[in-house]
Amino acid sequence: MKEQVKPVVIGTVGAGYAAHLHGNGYEKVSGVPIRLKTVCDLNLTLANEVKERYGYEQAISDFDALLADPEIDVIDIVTPPFLHCNMAAKALRAGKHVICEKPLTGYFGAPGEENVGATPKSQMYKAVLETMEELKQVMATTDKKFMYAENFVYATPVQKAAEIIRNKKSKILFMKGEESLKGSSSPVAGKWNKTGGGILVRTGTHPLTGMLFLKQQEALARGEVITVKSVSADVGVTTACLTEHEHRHIAARPEDVEDYAAVTVTFSDGTKCLTIASDAVLGGTKNYIEVYSNDSALMCNITPTDLLNTYFLDEDGLEDTYISEMLPAKLGWNKAFVSDEIIRGYMGELQDFMETIAYDKVPSSNFELAYQTTKIMYAAYLSAEEGRRVDF
Ligand SMILES: NC(=O)c1ccc[n+]([C@@H]2O[C@H](COP(=O)([O-])OP(=O)(O)OC[C@H]3O[C@@H](n4cnc5c(N)ncnc54)[C@H](O)[C@@H]3O)[C@@H](O)[C@H]2O)c1
Repeated sequence: MKEQVKPVVIGTVGAGYAAHLHGNGYEKVSGVPIRLKTVCDLNLTLANEVKERYGYEQAISDFDALLADPEIDVIDIVTPPFLHCNMAAKALRAGKHVICEKPLTGYFGAPGEENVGATPKSQMYKAVLETMEELKQVMATTDKKFMYAENFVYATPVQKAAEIIRNKKSKILFMKGEESLKGSSSPVAGKWNKTGGGILVRTGTHPLTGMLFLKQQEALARGEVITVKSVSADVGVTTACLTEHEHRHIAARPEDVEDYAAVTVTFSDGTKCLTIASDAVLGGTKNYIEVYSNDSALMCNITPTDLLNTYFLDEDGLEDTYISEMLPAKLGWNKAFVSDEIIRGYMGELQDFMETIAYDKVPSSNFELAYQTTKIMYAAYLSAEEGRRVDF
């Protein structure tokens, strides 16, 4: 039986879309008492909405006040990516544990700078590594935890695949992972200065971290040290050839970012993983990781799944019924999202993070995965721009 632990006191910064993913996750944490104390957003209206919906005790707009609260154990960072490293460093210095949304960081240019995507990628790569090294140095001064909120690590098919790989001590030879969709509803998704990159950073980051996690699990089970040896990539803007009319079903509006990326990582044991991300894929969100090892093939179908297939001739009565992401209509056949917060890993993620704090353990999704993922993505941009393999 687990010993009685004191409640983990949570302070969340950012009350936008992802704050709800975390709020839903916190609601389902079991076995660890938690206290949602404060939600902080520059926009107090949003902060109050999140407070009311998930039962936080207070809503505030001042991040420094959040850090100054001695009761708060962990700062949950769900702000835009350009703030992540700075906020994480401040929180660690204030003696707090940190949960940080993906991506860990990126290159965003100077404040107000436009067309940041035209910056030489060698410059971006260097700057991003420097930012992450600075955070690493802060981490070396504290015993507080850094927990990387990458839900793919906790997606139930990926967790099951990890268990199988550990138990069979399989040698993974090749993995293929994808997260593709038909563009974002966010007006800033096409701008490098807001997102730190295009579809690779927005969605490709998910399967990439998931595959790095699986490779890490293999290394642990087999007692091997497996590192990243090199990265080669191709990125592009596939929608540039469309007329306005032809573009009508695709929301992607890349300004100085890519809408397509394919990234090959070669590991030190000679094995490979391929990450694919496209912002121009119709038919709903496509999330999967395929794992091919010496003794198994594991297909992690994250979305869509076949748990519930629906068919409708009309949408009467379905106005408030969520069927699936990124599909504009519910008519005809559809693969409904069922228990999405569990299958896509949001629940398992927060459960692991709360146990990490309560029982002083190492989270499955940690700083090393966050660091490697960001380094690989920017190495990929460098590789694509200079037409060469980037060695680590
Ligand atoms: N894991 C996933 O599936 C997933 C999904 C969506 C977003 N995300 C990640 O979550 C993060 C947030 O994305 P989002 O979609 O929620 O963005 P969002 O724009 O909806 O919300 C971000 C919020 O942060 C607030 N904010 C900005 N600066 C602040 C500051 N200095 N102090 C306090 N609040 C501040 C904004 O007012 C805004 O409400 C991003 O890193 C994104 O990549 C992850």
